[in-house]
Amino acid sequence: MGGDNPYIDQAEATLPTKAFKITFTADGSPIGEVEVDPSALPERGDGRKGSLLRYAHAQGIEIDHACGGVCACSTCHVIVRQGISSCNEASEEEEDMVDLAPAVEPDSRLACQCIPDGTQDLVVDVPSWNRNAVREGG
Ligand code: FES
Repeated sequence: MGGDNPYIDQAEATLPTKAFKITFTADGSPIGEVEVDPSALPERGDGRKGSLLRYAHAQGIEIDHACGGVCACSTCHVIVRQGISSCNEASEEEEDMVDLAPAVEPDSRLACQCIPDGTQDLVVDVPSWNRNAVREGG
């Protein structure tokens, strides 16, 4: 599964046109970096094209994503610590789902729906409960 969910309204998003960097952290400690090349966005994978989930997975950074990246769970919850203003607005469906995640913060997003436009570098925190769930799930 992956890509867009045809049963919900997709929030509008602008794909990047210039290179930018995403630093992923786990409870504040760096776990990986992605140098996004706008001419080589991952075409395949779970989550919307240009989403944080798809960038992370393309780089081997694990983020739990129980529904396959179609805005139907809250397991891909992340917190955008830097660069939130360069990300698309969350849809009502995303807001409803992210509210179900533990420890929600003002800049919490679903990684499969959050699409930065590339005008800023980002720092994105993956909560430890998410990473623990991945490990327990094998
Ligand atoms: S993976 Fe289920 S909402 Fe993102």
